[in-house]
Amino acid sequence: MNPSAKDNQQIFSAGILTISDSGSAGDRVDISGERIVEIIEVAGFNKRLKDIVPDEIPVISEKLAEWSDSGEVDIIFTTGGTGLGPRDVTPEATKNILDLEIPGIGESMRVKTLDRTPFAILSRSTAGIRSGCLIVNLPGSPKGVEECLEVVIESLPHALAMIRGWKSHVEPN
Ligand code: MTE
Repeated sequence: MNPSAKDNQQIFSAGILTISDSGSAGDRVDISGERIVEIIEVAGFNKRLKDIVPDEIPVISEKLAEWSDSGEVDIIFTTGGTGLGPRDVTPEATKNILDLEIPGIGESMRVKTLDRTPFAILSRSTAGIRSGCLIVNLPGSPKGVEECLEVVIESLPHALAMIRGWKSHVEPN
């Protein structure tokens, strides 16, 4: 089985947000963000937004909320800031703005890639829905991006088809 966004005959739009102090200062080339673009385009997603922000909770949360609420993208991939360093705040910044958390996406990336690196468990990545947009945290290294996307990418078109219901969902009084 090799499902993709193309096979489902739905093209989903994606935003890629790299979270890195050095990248946002222009001191480092954004290899991981570019790698995400390459992988998701092969899988049939359409890159619409891309940016780099520093490891600051308010800045990350604001960008994720802005992109989700704009309706421009169906999915946002973040890369970086999921580890144990004092500046690693991506999971907290993501959780701050989610309507609904989806723990299984991060859990599956950790479990399924643990045989490739014992450091897989050091990523605290999460995922969830905000304004009908799916947000997925990925680790910061190109290798981490490749391995983790490989685990989750085939589930994403089905997830996004289900999540579309949130865009027209009205809470009962
Ligand atoms: N997961 C996979 N599959 N492959 C990797 O190379 N790198 C790990 C981990 N998850 C890695 C991975 C490492 S070394 C760290 S420190 C954490 O992700 C957090 O990375 P981040 O802070 O750059 O997000």
